[in-house]
Amino acid sequence: MTAGARTPLPTLAVVGATGAVGTVMCDLLSSRKNVWGEIRLIASSRSAGRTLSVRGGQVTVQALAPEVFDGVDVAMFDVPDEVSAEWAPIAVARGAVAVDNSGAFRMDPDVPLVVPEINPEQVRNRPKGIVANANCTTLAMIVAVAPLHREYGLRELVLASYQAVSGAGQIGVDTLHDQLAKVAGDRTLGSRPGNVRQAIGDESGPFPAPLALNVVPWAGSLKDAGWSSEELKMRNESRKILGLPDLKVSATCVRVPVVTGHSIAVHAVFGSEVDAESAREALRNAPGVILVDDPAAGEFPMPIDAVGTDPSWVGRIRRSLDDPRALDLFVTGDNLRKGAALNTAQIAELLAVEFTGR
Ligand SMILES: NC(=O)c1ccc[n+]([C@@H]2O[C@H](COP(=O)([O-])OP(=O)(O)OC[C@H]3O[C@@H](n4cnc5c(N)ncnc54)[C@H](OP(=O)(O)O)[C@@H]3O)[C@@H](O)[C@H]2O)c1
Repeated sequence: MTAGARTPLPTLAVVGATGAVGTVMCDLLSSRKNVWGEIRLIASSRSAGRTLSVRGGQVTVQALAPEVFDGVDVAMFDVPDEVSAEWAPIAVARGAVAVDNSGAFRMDPDVPLVVPEINPEQVRNRPKGIVANANCTTLAMIVAVAPLHREYGLRELVLASYQAVSGAGQIGVDTLHDQLAKVAGDRTLGSRPGNVRQAIGDESGPFPAPLALNVVPWAGSLKDAGWSSEELKMRNESRKILGLPDLKVSATCVRVPVVTGHSIAVHAVFGSEVDAESAREALRNAPGVILVDDPAAGEFPMPIDAVGTDPSWVGRIRRSLDDPRALDLFVTGDNLRKGAALNTAQIAELLAVEFTGR
């Protein structure tokens, strides 16, 4: 390279570009600052040959194969756990840094779990060449809790989630819309046991029960002692991101008939006394957070407003009536943006700076 010549922009691969998260990733890559040279879009052989729009141009989707990673600097994985587990190490062996959105590597001690607003320095600590992105419910919540932890010292979290169907991928969205079409207009539904189940039939898709006109206190798979995998992710990932291995966390994860936007009711206990107004001030100044806390004016964080936006929306901030060290609050975030694609894009952009110094 001649003196003064600029380093070429790094090459990016998006694996899982056709999925729910991948689709939002393509939109984000089109709207964020362009730090990438070539962008390759990868999916399964089912989608090979399709064209998708990125940065105003059409890109042909390639089938996942080892050669697609040749010359790639950063490979994002927006695919199921087992696909990431097999293919992220292959991308690394071909010279890429992998940023994984699945659950395959999050709790691996040799893989950093990075939220750029909280622990960006961890991106450089990647002995396996892999950086993990946290679970969508944890991400929406943790961006709002971390500034309060810095202020008061977090000791305990009691969480209840209200999770959108797109958290279960495109099939989750399709299932809810199909169910809503079946119940629309019938005003007798929901007034007698079993009549919603009857109207929907056995089309519960990826969910264990009908979601239209219902809430389902279950997300993920069954783990020890009755906990769900989603509930354990909220506990384990919060501890790892905040660097608090002994943090007490109890979560109850609930699926609700919302398309996109996970919400979390948070009861947070701290080491020192809290004050609602100073908590609001800390959140007003926190990166990645928007404060929406005016109940008198009907202003609360809600998925219908947060969908399609980048920050975690936070409101309903109250000091506990029983414990001066505890705060209650409500958080909503777009599970496909900050909960998935946006956080991955932010991590990848930190890596792009490493490659180019700009
Ligand atoms: N949805 C969320 O809110 C969310 C949030 C955080 C993290 N995540 C994680 O992100 C990942 C993707 O989730 P999603 O919701 O986008 O799922 P999705 O809508 O089901 O999309 C899955 C993607 O993976 C591709 N894929 C599946 N099997 C493949 C294979 N064998 N080889 C190559 N590509 C394959 C699919 O390609 P085809 O179209 O060709 O089948 C599609 O592009 C998952 O690990 C999920 O847990 C999701």
